[in-house]
Amino acid sequence: MPLVTTKEMFKKAYEGGYAVGAFNVNNMEIIQGITEAAKKLNAPLILQVSKGARAYANHTYLVKLVEAAVEETGLPIALHLDHGPDFETCKACIDGGFTSVMIDGSSLPYEENIAVTKKVVEYAHAHGVVVEGELGTLAGVEDDVAVEDGNASYTQPDQVEDFVTRTGVDSLAIAIGTSHGAYKFKPGQKPQLRFDILEEVSKRLPGFPIVLHGASSVVPEFVEKINKFGGDMPDAIGIPEEMLRKAATMAVCKINIDSDLRLAMTAAIREYMAENPSHFDPRQYLKPARTAIEGMVTHKIVDVLGCDGKA
Ligand code: G3H
Ligand code: 13P
Ligand code: ZN
Repeated sequence: MPLVTTKEMFKKAYEGGYAVGAFNVNNMEIIQGITEAAKKLNAPLILQVSKGARAYANHTYLVKLVEAAVEETGLPIALHLDHGPDFETCKACIDGGFTSVMIDGSSLPYEENIAVTKKVVEYAHAHGVVVEGELGTLAGVEDDVAVEDGNASYTQPDQVEDFVTRTGVDSLAIAIGTSHGAYKFKPGQKPQLRFDILEEVSKRLPGFPIVLHGASSVVPEFVEKINKFGGDMPDAIGIPEEMLRKAATMAVCKINIDSDLRLAMTAAIREYMAENPSHFDPRQYLKPARTAIEGMVTHKIVDVLGCDGKA
């Protein structure tokens, strides 16, 4: 099976009351860890590449690694551009083998967001590629764009029909209280998501797939391990997994996870290096890192997303 778009996987996810995991990939071990978990669980997958990942690993290397994963697993896998910053980057990914792109115009004035999103949709659809748009801004860092807490804004449900109709997007990322990175809430702050906004959005867009960014749960075990083995991370709070499970049963069809993978990988490498200080073969510490990624993704697929057996 070649790379697929998200069209069919979102239709099944919406109807089945589960979500597909969209995991950020930056190198071979991350791709292998994620796809090994999905293969064992027969789960559909979205592997997503940010502007930063393309700069780090090179577009062609990432496409070829993901194509290798498709060949090795036989799973339905979509290759997605995460937070496309402009038309040119989206075009380069559409021309270069991606099956899905996100154009992130969420920090632009509304009409400018519509204009750039519509332009990307026209080009993408002419090439058989699907498009994710975004309305509302998340706090945290989206590639080079840092959004201060006070400037983050929830999606306004009364804009979504107009946005989707005028742009033609295939899915929509909304802001309901998630944010990027490991520090989503201040110490002492109670994590909360605006399920009322999600419900209102899905009433206005029946059957339409919604995307949640910034959905890592920042599993404390990994932060503790990082700190136990020489790290110095302040207390971090993520999105409680029961909230993500609930969102997955609603209109949310795609849940983005990056920070949890970073934490799992870094914790495994720190532990390995602390316990084997004389080792210097990268394969020795990247192997447990890859296994940690596989464990994390297995947990997400089974306990959070509910997409095991749905490939
Ligand atoms: O939303 C951002 C993703 O976690 C990707 O992060 O831009 O550092 O690759 P990055
Ligand atoms: P996290 O930082 O919560 O993992 O979010 C990742 C994300 O939204 C990628 O687009
Ligand atoms: Zn994101």
